[in-house]
Amino acid sequence: MRVNVLSQKKSSKGVSLLVSLTLLVIVLSITGCSVKQPGQVAIASAHPLATQAGFEILNKGGNVYDAAVAVSAALAVVEPSGSGLGGGGFWLLHRESDGLDIMLDGREKAPLAADKNMFLDAQGNAVTGLSLNSALAAGIPGMPAGLVYLSKNYGKLSLAESLQPAIRYAEQGFNIGKRHQKLLGFRKTILNKDAETAAIFLQQGKIPAKGSLLVQTDLAGTLKQLADKGHAGFYAGTIADKLVSAVQKGGGIWSLADLQKYQVVEREPVTGSYKGTKITSAALPSSGGIVLIEALNILENIDLDSVDSITRKHLIVEALRRAYHDRALYLGDTDFIDVPVKRLLNKDYAQGLASTLRADKALPSDYLTGQTEEQLGGRNTTHFSIIDAEGNRVSATLSVNFPFGAGLVASGTGVLLNNEMDDFASAKNSANGYGLVGGAANAIAPEKRMLSSMTPTFLEDNKRIAVLGTPGGSRIISMVLLAALDFAAGNDPKSWVHVKRFHHQYIPDQILYEKNGLTDDEVQGLQALGHQLIQTYNYGNMQAVQLDKENKELFAASDPRGEGFASVQTVD
Ligand code: GLY
Repeated sequence: MRVNVLSQKKSSKGVSLLVSLTLLVIVLSITGCSVKQPGQVAIASAHPLATQAGFEILNKGGNVYDAAVAVSAALAVVEPSGSGLGGGGFWLLHRESDGLDIMLDGREKAPLAADKNMFLDAQGNAVTGLSLNSALAAGIPGMPAGLVYLSKNYGKLSLAESLQPAIRYAEQGFNIGKRHQKLLGFRKTILNKDAETAAIFLQQGKIPAKGSLLVQTDLAGTLKQLADKGHAGFYAGTIADKLVSAVQKGGGIWSLADLQKYQVVEREPVTGSYKGTKITSAALPSSGGIVLIEALNILENIDLDSVDSITRKHLIVEALRRAYHDRALYLGDTDFIDVPVKRLLNKDYAQGLASTLRADKALPSDYLTGQTEEQLGGRNTTHFSIIDAEGNRVSATLSVNFPFGAGLVASGTGVLLNNEMDDFASAKNSANGYGLVGGAANAIAPEKRMLSSMTPTFLEDNKRIAVLGTPGGSRIISMVLLAALDFAAGNDPKSWVHVKRFHHQYIPDQILYEKNGLTDDEVQGLQALGHQLIQTYNYGNMQAVQLDKENKELFAASDPRGEGFASVQTVD
């Protein structure tokens, strides 16, 4: 994590000025938070080059939406493990001039030839790995369409201008970091299965050394097609031909018609409130906003400040258990099914659920009615947050699902295929790659969008506006919830991204907590209440920015668990 402090106000002279500035750099680097004066822009993203791409475009006269195009495209190049042109995502936008809040839905869709049993064997059991590590695992990408739509409808600059930094990074290459190496390690076997994919990301089948230059010439070519031709540069013509041919060669079922039909959808975000904090978050086909608000609505009935830390965590877990249970039962793509969204977001409904919470006992998930199957989350996906001093803002979570998606590059395009089809509930009594279960509401159907957990979010109280989100599969929602509680407690972005993480998602019936996420006393106390606990690695990579409404001060913070870059800068 690095912090830009180049334009910090200076208050002393000569050597003492140097000493003060050096100290300031050290302090701010340690805290991971930058603070600046009015009229500026804050960006936090998972990679320094992506944050820089955003500022580059702002300095060329772009607005925050142009910057969002530049950051999204740059992340697709410099963080290929998390997102990419072969993936999709959600961009939550706020425009201050007319108060517009809108979510651009660039989620992947199931191909026209998809079938609800496509990942099952003759006995009706899920075929191991098929929805994760094959060309069949790839949904029709929404990311390129999202970039074109965002630029055309909200930006000031041309798409070609906003894509320049990404094209440069792909053409000239960038030095890979430790995180990139680690994620390559996680997917090495899969990446090695395809010679072209291995040639791009590995060196003689091995993980390249830290600092090695990753050049993506074919990806630069695809970005240039997009820059020159817009939507048609990806969804028709040469690139579309190459994508379809590669997917079919790999045993997948994409057709040119799939690509031709893909469109971004503008959706109304979901909104709610928690003790004076307004929440605006992702609508379906992401479950993120609904589960977040439902869990917070349950918790609003409880005074979390008056209980000890074990009870506090237990009650948060119990709220998550109930909200994730509703996720599994009801949530899916509203273009295909009816979802009782109004009820799930209703405060009386949440009060009813809150009345079933016991401070002295965990409720086994088996006791919740309407069983479905299960999902868990980890190191996939990416998030960035942008806000300017006027309050215009973008919260975007983008994904190829598992690190490096399906681990297969479509020949000649540099595009890594996603494995987002795994986010559907494809088999009864079987969990997806994140341990999540789902039922008929999230069954596969042609052209349906798979249910997501991505939770790009705005929080607002009478003093501050926050923009935040994180990768992490099904754990995204609990991470954003813990950060929202921390915001409501009056803490700053640096604190939200640091918050120790624990998670429950109804099934599996266990509390997952990151290393040092709970104290030994808390672990024992929660066990005594009937919980099963599993410790895992430090997860998430939250990117957050904040605007102080009164003095227009901006703040930005990047998760210490990642290698992101949060900065507040003056733009020309
Ligand atoms: N692929 C992760 C999600 O959309 O939730």
